[in-house]
Amino acid sequence: MQVQINNLFYAYPGGINALNGISFSIEPGEQVAIVGQNGAGKTTLARHLNGLLQPTSGQLTIGGWDTRSVSVAKLASRVGYVFQNPDEQLFCKTVGVEVAFGPKNLHYSPQRIDELVSEALALTELTEKRDINPYDLSPTGRKMVALASIISMDTPIVIFDEPTTGQDAASVARIASVIAHLRKHGKTVITITHDIDFCAENFERVIALSQGQVLLDGSANEVLGQQEILARTYVDPPQLTRLGIRLGIPGTIRSQVEFLAAYRTLTSKD
Ligand SMILES: Nc1ncnc2c1ncn2[C@@H]1O[C@H](COP(=O)(O)OP(=O)(O)OP(=O)(O)O)[C@@H](O)[C@H]1O
Ligand SMILES: [Mg+2]
Repeated sequence: MQVQINNLFYAYPGGINALNGISFSIEPGEQVAIVGQNGAGKTTLARHLNGLLQPTSGQLTIGGWDTRSVSVAKLASRVGYVFQNPDEQLFCKTVGVEVAFGPKNLHYSPQRIDELVSEALALTELTEKRDINPYDLSPTGRKMVALASIISMDTPIVIFDEPTTGQDAASVARIASVIAHLRKHGKTVITITHDIDFCAENFERVIALSQGQVLLDGSANEVLGQQEILARTYVDPPQLTRLGIRLGIPGTIRSQVEFLAAYRTLTSKD
């Protein structure tokens, strides 16, 4: 299911121009990270993708549906949106009921709902927490419930808004494995993130936004190596890339494995 954005402008009531002519498309099954400084327009753009906001001008289509002409409820069958703050998303009394809410609303069969809920709970390591109130869980636990309750909807497109903020290393690894699972199942994943190391390790395409415009759009290797242009939106390349640059290693280093291989090659030349 293709996402197509064509010359999208959005001004908030009151006059702030948050998006200023955004165009790009995302192919089915692509996994894209959207990065940029505070106020760059990332969340505003994400809220257009699930129809919570409508373009002031320009066009956005999801699998051929113009978001202006379909309801938010209908769009929910195609786009799942994991909120940055789980407390804005969760409202049910137990984890199990919360995770079943989305697929029930999409009128899936009871059997499919059971399967999807069990799978989402297993993936987020919440199977044992089914009968617990989400508000009795830790912030990490609530984040996992927020993820599970969107994954269970089985939408072709999933959006994560700042998934790793405030999460410890174990939880970040679990979020990465959820994204890998979605990739394996051919889902389109769009992730808004400040966490450039997480972006480097998990995404093949990166779009950098600045002041409501696309500053860079390309493969992670291309985009994350552009230190000077990224600096315009106050984004530093990943730590390992910067270390590589300081050591004189060419290219964009995105993971520890890549770093070790490049470092071995470098030192074996000495
Ligand atoms: N509800 C709102 N009303 C008016 N202006 C808003 C509103 N929400 C955001 N803005 C403004 O729109 C612009 C884009 O904001 P947005 O929240 O989309 O940025 P962001 O890239 O998600 O930032 P952050 O990294 O801080 O989450 C900013 O100038 C912001 O102040
Ligand atoms: Mg935001």
